[in-house]
Amino acid sequence: MTDPAPARPTALVTGATAGLGARYAEQLAQRGHDLVLVARNAERLETSAEQLRRRHGVEVEVLAADLSDRQALQRVADRVADPARPVDVLVNNAGFGLKQRFSDGDLAAHEEMFDVLCRAVMVLSRSAAGGMRGRGRGRIVNIASVAGFVAGGGHYSAAKAYVALLTETLHQELSGTGVTATAVAPGFVRTEFHARAGMKSGGSDSPAWLDADEVVRQSLDDAFAGKVLSVPSKRYKAVMTVLDVAPRALVRTVWGRARWGAARRHPDSPA
Ligand SMILES: NC(=O)c1ccc[n+]([C@@H]2O[C@H](COP(=O)([O-])OP(=O)(O)OC[C@H]3O[C@@H](n4cnc5c(N)ncnc54)[C@H](OP(=O)(O)O)[C@@H]3O)[C@@H](O)[C@H]2O)c1
Repeated sequence: MTDPAPARPTALVTGATAGLGARYAEQLAQRGHDLVLVARNAERLETSAEQLRRRHGVEVEVLAADLSDRQALQRVADRVADPARPVDVLVNNAGFGLKQRFSDGDLAAHEEMFDVLCRAVMVLSRSAAGGMRGRGRGRIVNIASVAGFVAGGGHYSAAKAYVALLTETLHQELSGTGVTATAVAPGFVRTEFHARAGMKSGGSDSPAWLDADEVVRQSLDDAFAGKVLSVPSKRYKAVMTVLDVAPRALVRTVWGRARWGAARRHPDSPA
């Protein structure tokens, strides 16, 4: 039995203050959603909320939370699962990169990456799925990465591979319920991501770099169409096709050489 759809559905977006998350919030408001915005910086959240209310006339809640903190994550999970204020669209977007290798990097930083990129996505997806299944509708949108399909990006690649596979599993489990889960796999996108991680994005005017608005538009279209995987842009769809068919050993070698070349051109690029 499907509950009647609300006049204005609600979307909860993590990492909503910058980059892709800010564009998800904006475009979901344009598509008529009320919002719950999650990130750590409370001041920036309030500013974003005020702008979104003014520009789109939607209701916006803010929930300041560090998703690497278990108690803070539980507050967000409780909000996601609150039956009195249903969340119709969950966008697990918050994330960051690390400019260090896995094998000799700082363990605490890698644990934080695991907590935000994997654990928070797992807990919030599960919190959303139960209520959505009961209501017979809902969209779960988890931001993975093309990097999750190629070894060599340190811990980040492994974390994004986890997000992609967990989302595919969820999509399969929810089949026929009216609820869908979509993994989004962007390539390089112009956001604050690389500067925050202390990485160079010297080639950001090259065609390898995508516009955040376009990535979000294509991925929301795919999510609302119920697709299990969204790869924004023809360029990166072509990359994913090659990755699908090429032998893994060959991909590792070519990718390793490309990274080595990039490291020589940009000494600050991640190992
Ligand atoms: N940019 C790319 O090239 C690219 C490519 C593929 C995938 N992605 C993925 O896309 C997603 C968004 O990244 P972006 O490029 O938009 O990065 P961004 O511009 O740096 O934005 C990151 C957002 O995540 C929030 N955040 C970071 N750590 C958090 C934490 N511990 N708890 C709560 N919120 C946290 C930040 O807000 P606060 O600092 O206020 O917490 C910010 O709103 C990430 O999952 C990233 O891995 C990015």
